[in-house]
Amino acid sequence: MTPKFGYPATADDYREKARARLPGFLFDYLDGGATNEQTLRANEADWANIHLRQRVLVNVDQVDTTVTLAGQPCSMPVVLAPLGLAGMMAQRGEVQAVRAANAAGIPFTLSTVGICPVEEVQAATTEAAWFQLYMIRDRARVKALLEKAWSAGCRTLVFTVDLPLPGMRHRDFRNGLAGTGPRSKLLKIQQLLSRPGWLWNVAVRGGPLSFGNLSDALPDARNLDAVKDWIDTQFDPTVTWADIEWIRQHWQGKLLLKGILDVEDAHLAVQVGADGIVVSNHGGRQLDGVASGAGKLPDIVAAVGSQTEILVDGGVRSGTDVFRALALGAHGVMIGRPWAYALAGGGEAGLTRLLRRWQQELRLAMTLTGVTRIADIGTDQLDRPHKHE
Ligand code: FNR
Repeated sequence: MTPKFGYPATADDYREKARARLPGFLFDYLDGGATNEQTLRANEADWANIHLRQRVLVNVDQVDTTVTLAGQPCSMPVVLAPLGLAGMMAQRGEVQAVRAANAAGIPFTLSTVGICPVEEVQAATTEAAWFQLYMIRDRARVKALLEKAWSAGCRTLVFTVDLPLPGMRHRDFRNGLAGTGPRSKLLKIQQLLSRPGWLWNVAVRGGPLSFGNLSDALPDARNLDAVKDWIDTQFDPTVTWADIEWIRQHWQGKLLLKGILDVEDAHLAVQVGADGIVVSNHGGRQLDGVASGAGKLPDIVAAVGSQTEILVDGGVRSGTDVFRALALGAHGVMIGRPWAYALAGGGEAGLTRLLRRWQQELRLAMTLTGVTRIADIGTDQLDRPHKHE
């Protein structure tokens, strides 16, 4: 297809397309962060402050972006992060996204609170999808969920540890989606779900609206009040490091802990035998005021980088940002909003194009810094202020 004027090139371009297409409450849910959104802004801004070292006259004819993450070969060190409700961004949204990830040769992570069930998502890809777990009070249900993910074919579990309670997100409150926000707004959303229109077309006509992995817990996902109540009462804030052993007993595959933001916690994650960690502040959606992923990464790498696999997320918005994360010592990155913007703004084809551009951009960054293999990217590619000797 001949590119048209205004053809989307970046995550930001797709963000604007998503803004134009999605109902306001859904765009806000995707785009927003906790309270004043300072951490949300820092996530993006801090990558921009990592300066790279341009090198010339190196033979960069053969540049290889492939890598292995959680034992899985990937075309580049990028994983699609788990996003709740992502399936509402486009019809059977998670299925479209996993297909795009599959075509790009990278892993897709399905959220516990995704829309499409794990069997449907796994059936749409030739690679093992990753499954993300939120701990639920009813352990029998968690056990059943893990069994379902395993028999569907998932082999990597991403256990998210930074959400004992959902963060306070003012945009969601104003839209009636969170806390005790205006009920009239919630009713309006329910009306949108019950009659033809954008939301009905995408969320209902493409299959019943449900939280696919929790469908037996939530008989009618269109009752948004009930869904809110269920999440508020069933997510388990009593979980501690001791529970990791329980998870290990019920999950034979790789186990990554997502939401590590502190050196001490990184050490504990290694001690309990996690196969990897995701340095993350949940995309600035939990505690506003904590440091960015880029800010915390160097210390965590220095502490445990040689003992475990480290992914980082938050504000990664380009292939160059992926390179910056690797230069600071990460083995790979997760991306959240960018994939959902592309999915909402351009569907599966849009996400496929964005991922292709990111891979080109990563290759270009490697070429211009004079490295030809992912394993060779490190602090040597950083301009002095960020160098760790
Ligand atoms: C999330 N995130 C998230 N994390 C998780 O473990 N389970 C989940 O269900 C969700 N849901 C979710 C919904 C939405 C709309 C967003 C934006 C984020 C956090 C996500 O996995 C990831 O950590 C961040 O999105 C990374 O930051 P960026 O790339 O969005 O800046």
